[in-house]
Amino acid sequence: MDKSKVLILDFGSQYTQLIARRVREFGVYSEIVPFNHEIDKIRDFNAGAIILSGGPSSVYEKDAPQIDKKILELGIPVLGICYGLQLLAIHSGMKVKGAKEREYGHAKLNILKKTLLLEGLKDNTSVWMSHGDKISDYPDDFLITGSTKNTEIAVIESDKRKIYGVQFHPEVVHTKDGKRLISNFLFKISKLKSNWTMKSFIETSVKSIRTKVGKEKVILGLSGGVDSTVLALLLKKAIGDQLIPVFVDNGVLRKNEFTSLMKKFKDDLGLKVIGVDASEDFLNKLKNVKDPEKKRKIIGRTFIEVFAREAKQFGKIKYFSQGTLYPDVIESVSVKGPAATIKSHHNVGGLPEKMDWELIEPFRELFKDEVRAIGRELKLDDKFVNRHPFPGPGLAIRILGAVSKKKVRILQDADAILKEELDNFNLYNEIWQSFVVLLPIKTVGVMGDVRTYEYVATIRLVTSVDGMTADWYYPPEDFLRTVSTRMVNEVKGINRITYDMTSKPPGTIEWE
Ligand code: XMP
Repeated sequence: MDKSKVLILDFGSQYTQLIARRVREFGVYSEIVPFNHEIDKIRDFNAGAIILSGGPSSVYEKDAPQIDKKILELGIPVLGICYGLQLLAIHSGMKVKGAKEREYGHAKLNILKKTLLLEGLKDNTSVWMSHGDKISDYPDDFLITGSTKNTEIAVIESDKRKIYGVQFHPEVVHTKDGKRLISNFLFKISKLKSNWTMKSFIETSVKSIRTKVGKEKVILGLSGGVDSTVLALLLKKAIGDQLIPVFVDNGVLRKNEFTSLMKKFKDDLGLKVIGVDASEDFLNKLKNVKDPEKKRKIIGRTFIEVFAREAKQFGKIKYFSQGTLYPDVIESVSVKGPAATIKSHHNVGGLPEKMDWELIEPFRELFKDEVRAIGRELKLDDKFVNRHPFPGPGLAIRILGAVSKKKVRILQDADAILKEELDNFNLYNEIWQSFVVLLPIKTVGVMGDVRTYEYVATIRLVTSVDGMTADWYYPPEDFLRTVSTRMVNEVKGINRITYDMTSKPPGTIEWE
C-alpha cells in the first residue's frame, strides 16, 4: 500500500483547507474530497491515513452528513476532528448528545494518558474548541486519553480499530501543540513517508507534462503574477520551445508593468515571450460596462480571442496552460455544498466553456506558498516570488463601475505610490496583498484656495495565508500619512483617501 498520502473528508468545516496545509507542511501529500466521496474512489486513492474534518452540523440532526461505515473497515488509520470525532464515536457504539454548556474558543487539555497520539504534548496545553455536542458511553477497546473542563471525553483512541478522535481543532494555530498531534498521527501512528517536496513535484510534473504534450505546442497566458511566471519556467524546463508564452497588455495592468515585465521575461528568465498590446480592444469592450461579473466575462473572453489570434502564426496548437491553484478547484463542502460540482475559477477571469484547446493546469493541486517554493527551486528571484497576487481581470475590478482610460490612469498612479511607499517603509513582505480601489463617487475638497471635486480612493492592505480568509492590516500612522498626502498631491483626479478595515469573511479581498 502507498503510505505517503492522506485523504481528508470534508464535512463543511471552515478549517478543512488548513488540515490539508498542515499535512503537506509535514511533507505528506494530502487531498480534500467531499464527505460523500464514493468508497471505491477512496479505496483507489490508496491513502495511508484518513482525516475526517469538523463541520457545522450535529450528528443526530436530520440530514447530518454521514460517513460510509466501510471506510472504517479499510484498515487505514482514521483521525476524526470535532464533528469527525463525533461520527467516529456513534459508529463505534458511543453516545453523542447536546452538552449543557457549549465550549467555544480556548480550553486546557488535561492529558490522561501519554499515548503515541499525545506524545510530546504538554499537560494543560491550550486547545481550540468549537462545538456543542458531547460523547458519553464508550466501548472497552477505546481509551479516553484527554479531557477539558467542559468536555470529559476530548480525545479517544483505539489502536485495535485504528480509530482516533479529538474534540478540538489541532489544525488551527490556537491549539498550541496541534502540529505535534498531527505529526504523531501521520508518522507515529500511520507510519507515513514524508516525500512530498517541491523538488519531487517538479521532477514528476516535468515527466508527466513531457509525456502528455509529446511534440505538440502549448500556449500559456502570462499575467505577470507569480503563478503563471513559475508555470512558464516549469513548462520551459519540460518542453523548451514548444511553449509559447503570451503576455497581453489588457489596458488594466499596473503602471509600466507591460514594458518592465516584457524585459524581465525575455532578459532575466529567457522566455521567448510574445507581447501583445490589446489594450484598445479590451478598453473598448469594457466601455460603459458596470456589472463586475460582466467585466470579468468580457476580459476572459477577450483574452482567449487575443490568444487565438496570436496562436495562428504557430500553426496547430493543442494545449492551453494556466496557473489555476488548489483553493480554486477544491470540490469542498465548505466551498459549495455537498451536491455541487467543482468550482471553476480561472486565472484569466472566466474562460469560455467551449475552447479548442485542451487545458494543462499543473498547479491544480497546489497552494500558493507551494508554487512560491517551486519558483525558488526554479531560481526565480525572491523579489518576484514574493510579489503580491494580482487578479486576472486586473485594475478593471478595482475601478468600481465603468472602466475608462482616465480612471485607469488615475488608479495606476495611485497604485504606484502605494507600492513605492510599502517598499520605503519596508512593509511589502508583511502583507499578503495591497492595492488601491477607485470609487465611483466624487467629493468636495480644497487645494490651495481652490475648490476641488474629485474621486475617492481606498487603500486595501490585507494579511492572509492563502487568500481564502484575510485580516485587514493595521499600518503605521506615518505610512498612512505619507501615502495619503502623496496620493492627493500627486494623482490628478483624486482628492480623498479612505482605508478599508474589513476582514474576509465577511468582506472579500477585492471589491468586485
Ligand atoms: P476575493 O476577492 O475573492 O479574492 O477575496 C481572493 C484572491 O483571489 C484573487 N482574485 C482573482 N484572481 N482572477 C484571478 O486570477 C480573478 O478573477 C480573481 N478574483 C479575485 C484576489 O486578488 C485575491 O488574491
